[in-house]
Amino acid sequence: MKDFPILRRSMRGGKRLTYLDSGATSQKPQSVIDAQSTFYAEKNAAVHRGAHLLAEEADAAYEGARKIVANFIGAEIDEVVFTKSATESINAIAYSFSNSGAGSRFSLKPGDSIVVTEMEHHANLIPWQQLARRTGATLKWIPVTQEGRLDYSTLDHLVDSSTKVLAFTHQSNVLGTINDVAQLVAAAKKVGALTVLDACQSVPHFAVDVKSLGVDFLAFSGHKTLGPTGIGILWGRAELLDAMEPYLYGGSMIESVTMESATWAPAPRKFEAGVPNMAGAVGFGAALEYLNSLGMENVHAWEQELTQYALDKFSELKGVTVIGPKDAIDRGAVISFTVEGIHPHDVGQVLDQHGIAVRTGHHCAWPLMKKYGITGTTRASFYIYNTLADIDTLVAGVISAQEYFKVI
Ligand SMILES: Cc1ncc(COP(=O)(O)O)c(C=O)c1O
Repeated sequence: MKDFPILRRSMRGGKRLTYLDSGATSQKPQSVIDAQSTFYAEKNAAVHRGAHLLAEEADAAYEGARKIVANFIGAEIDEVVFTKSATESINAIAYSFSNSGAGSRFSLKPGDSIVVTEMEHHANLIPWQQLARRTGATLKWIPVTQEGRLDYSTLDHLVDSSTKVLAFTHQSNVLGTINDVAQLVAAAKKVGALTVLDACQSVPHFAVDVKSLGVDFLAFSGHKTLGPTGIGILWGRAELLDAMEPYLYGGSMIESVTMESATWAPAPRKFEAGVPNMAGAVGFGAALEYLNSLGMENVHAWEQELTQYALDKFSELKGVTVIGPKDAIDRGAVISFTVEGIHPHDVGQVLDQHGIAVRTGHHCAWPLMKKYGITGTTRASFYIYNTLADIDTLVAGVISAQEYFKVI
């Protein structure tokens, strides 16, 4: 906690900050803030271009960060592409697919299908809707059960020989549900479909190893992983990245250029057109080193304790419904809930008066809200710096909202 300067500031009425919105973005330890400012103060230069000492040091810092990311997720260094966000990473895959010529392994056509799930964040839904529109492929989705799990019984029927891509989230940002990656990957492999894992809500919270998961692509964001905004990761298996078309064209991603045409540098460079977010990458490297120093097993264990405690406390609250699994098994530290008789925005506003920061609304998962017949929820999401006392503060805040609106 002492490592996160923002947690020392006070909120309205001098209240202590209870930050429960890490699912939207995490707070940053001092080491991340320092790594970014040291980069600008001492090493700033455009990477992969200059012939001077600063450029050499900037290169080393940027490529050093790539190595840290690769080690963190069990990847090869050249399989790690820096983007600006998970959203860009997923769009990158979808655009690379549609930039690939007919007959390539990535091209889609009418009759092909893309399968997603009903619990996707818009970032892992709309790029696939648009790819389907561009190519004439059909979009299908695995439904969510009332309990908030995927309905795996539909897999055999939905993932078939027409399926070219199966894109799904590792952990739902709304329900907290952790999906069974092995089962989904097995279904895709059976029909030769490529898998894309949205790891935005998993990589920050528990150990993720791309090789043992067996997926083909994976995306996550720096800012949810204690790192800066404006930096994201696209990971892809080397042979796939090598065979894929770029999605952005310009400087730094080429091998040779004439007035008529160009050829591409090897991955990951061909996916990093333009001067990249060097300070962001360096800050992100520092964030992952911070998590390494804690140990991801400890991060996960602490979050499980928080989740169990929160679920127990919420089960005692009258008029409050948790949307998503009610037990802490295969479930992350996200509690979305509705309060009978109070709109989620009003709940959020009362909590704000107590210094509690939560997210309210549809959480960029509009179809999931429709599934549950609601317009939105209040969402509390926890991370390493949260304590059991934060959950007590949240529960007291919810009760005070119920008292204020006279619903209990
Ligand atoms: C599950 C999930 N996927 C994708 C995203 C998009 O991440 P970003 O906005 O960092 O690109 C988010 C962000 O909330 C998310 O929770």
